[in-house]
Formats: sequence, structure tokens, C-alpha cells
Amino acid sequence: MPYQITLLPGDGIGPEVIAAAETVLRALPLEWTFTRAEIGLGAYERLGTPLPESTLEAIRQSDAALFGAVTTPPNLPGYFSPVVRMRQALDLYANLRPNRSLPHPSSRQGIDLVIVRENTEGLYSGLERVEDNGNRAITERVITRRGSERIVRKAFDLARQTGRTRVHLVHKANILRQTCGLFRRVALDVAAAYPDIELAEMLVDTCAMELIRAPEQFQVIVTTNLFGDILSDEACMLVGGLGVAASGNIGAEAAVFEPVHGSAPPLVGTGKANPTAAFFAAAMMLEYLGEAQSAVRLRNAVITCIAAGETTPDLGGTLTTSEMTEAVKSRMMN
Ligand code: NAI
Ligand code: MG
Repeated sequence: MPYQITLLPGDGIGPEVIAAAETVLRALPLEWTFTRAEIGLGAYERLGTPLPESTLEAIRQSDAALFGAVTTPPNLPGYFSPVVRMRQALDLYANLRPNRSLPHPSSRQGIDLVIVRENTEGLYSGLERVEDNGNRAITERVITRRGSERIVRKAFDLARQTGRTRVHLVHKANILRQTCGLFRRVALDVAAAYPDIELAEMLVDTCAMELIRAPEQFQVIVTTNLFGDILSDEACMLVGGLGVAASGNIGAEAAVFEPVHGSAPPLVGTGKANPTAAFFAAAMMLEYLGEAQSAVRLRNAVITCIAAGETTPDLGGTLTTSEMTEAVKSRMMN
């Protein structure tokens, strides 16, 4: 049976980097059925919604989905963030952000860490209100036992599966006594079932500092939604930044992999969009599908290209998006 993959190209450079990822995936000795579905501003303009129900259904029916990027217009009536909505509708509770050193001057060396971020609750609960004639605004931070348990378990399972030995539990339980307190207590309970993995606790502000000072100490970081959002953007700058950062949104029934960057409107049609982040997202998808060997093959081909300077201009090379795609493809075949 071929793998059923939903491609969500989206807006801006999304379609360009997704086409690049499709090209390298097709070059692997695997069978694929790729279907495209609509998301983003283009979808809103054509269909009146940035996230049609048919797109959610397509993702549910697939083995996995690969998403490009969307453009978020300011203040468009009826518009909502399709990315946040998709994560909630499909209950994609785990956001995985790997950060690994690359053979490139923009990357620090000795780093191989994954940030496991809770993706559905916390300060992004969507529970916001305004009081006192607009002079007081409140956002509710929701932490549940179930939400905490499953994300911490995901982090420990990932550590085990990838031969890692330590998980950092990152919170601010000294101040946020109730919400982070619950997250922490549940995490300590879960950790007890993994005696082979060391649990290290760290306050989030310390973690932000330690990521810059000594990032090699981290293997897996597990944390709540907003903290994870911030720390993962920080961490990706240690190893090459937006052009190379990829993430996976994983639930019990669906999974969506994506480059971290946005739709980069000025780059559209210039051939300057770096496809590396989309390639790394595709490699994460291969791993998720159980195709570890193909994942390594793709990732190594990209790394070899980067080391050889066969890259788009943002990484110092002179190749276009499609030339870099061909370069990765041919390295993958050798
Ligand atoms: P952006 O990530 O699109 O661009 C930030 C900077 O990085 C720009 O200088 C851009 O040229 C560069 N860049 C991004 N991706 C690149 C790539 N693959 N290769 C080479 N350079 C790359 O973020 P920005 O400019 O803040 O937002 C543009 C649009 O994207 C906005 O509408 C924003 O809302 C949306 N966005 C969407 C995201 C998503 O779909 N997940 C994430 C972030 C932003
Ligand atoms: Mg972010």
C-alpha cells in the first residue's frame, strides 16, 4: 500500500518548498499517493475559509500531512489562524522541534536536542476577555492532568526511542503555582515510570539563558505551550535559523509536519526560498511513518549539500530552490 500523504502547500513560498519536498520524497524507493488540500489566505479568497472542513477530513484520512506555510492577513473579517485551528481540530497535542548542529558557520556545534511542546492548551487556550471598559484584559491559562500527562509521556518515549538519557522539565512553578504546579506534579509522576531516563528540572527563564550559554547539556526539553513556542524559536537560531528549522505536530490520529518559517512573500518566484526546512520536515515525516532509513538518507543528503556549499543564498550558496532540490536528490541517490 502506498503511503497516503496530504500536501498543504498554503501561501507564499509554501507551494515552492512543498513541491521541493515532494520531489525528494518521490525519489526514494517508497510508494506514495500525494493529494493536495487548501489552507491559508488563498483558501479564504477562493472558498471563504482559511481551513475548509474538507482539508481536515483529508488529513484525518491520510497517513500524514506535509504543510508549507500560510500568510496571515491583519484584521480580515471572518479570518482565523488556520494553523492554531488545525492543531486543535485534529488534537495535534505534541509539537516536536528538533535542533541539531549543521556543518555551517551559522550553526553552533555539539547540539542535538528536541523541544517537546504542549500544543493545545496553556496560555493559547483561546479563553480571553476584556473587562473594565477595555482597561483590563485577561487570558486564562488552562493546564489539565490529561494534557500534561500525554505530553510528558511523549517526551520520555521520544528520549527512549532515540537513545537519549535525560529529559529537562521546564516550567515556572515557583510563580505559577497552580498551573505549572499541576504540570510539574503530573510530570514527576510520569517520570517515575522511566527510571532509565534522568529527569532534570529547570525554570523557564533559566532555560532561556542556558540554551545560549551551554546548549549541549540539553537532550529533550518538555514544556507548556507558550514557553515551548518561545524556547523553540530561540533554539533554532543556535543551529542555522529559519531556513532550516522543521517541526512536527503529532496527535493520536493524525500528524502534520512543517517548516517553521512563514510564507516569506518577498521571496515568491525568486528561487531564493531555502527548501532545507521542508526537507527536514519531510525527514521527520519519514521517521513518523517508520521509514527511519529513508529519513537518514534524506537528512544526510541535505547535510552533505550544506557542507559542500550547495545551498540557496540565505546559507551562503548560489543555488536556486530547484537547483538545491536536484542537488539533494542526486546526493540521495549516491
Ligand atoms: P517568514 O518566516 O515568512 O520570514 C522571515 C524572514 O526569513 C524573511 O526575511 C524571509 O525572507 C526569511 N525566510 C523565511 N523562510 C525562508 C526560506 N525558506 N528561505 C530563505 N529565507 C527564508 O516570517 P514573516 O516575514 O514574519 O511573515 C510572513 C508571513 O508568514 C506572515 O503573513 C506571517 O503571518 C506568516 N507566517 C506563517 C507561519 C506558518 O505558516 N507557520 C509562521 C510564521 C509566519
Ligand atoms: Mg513560533
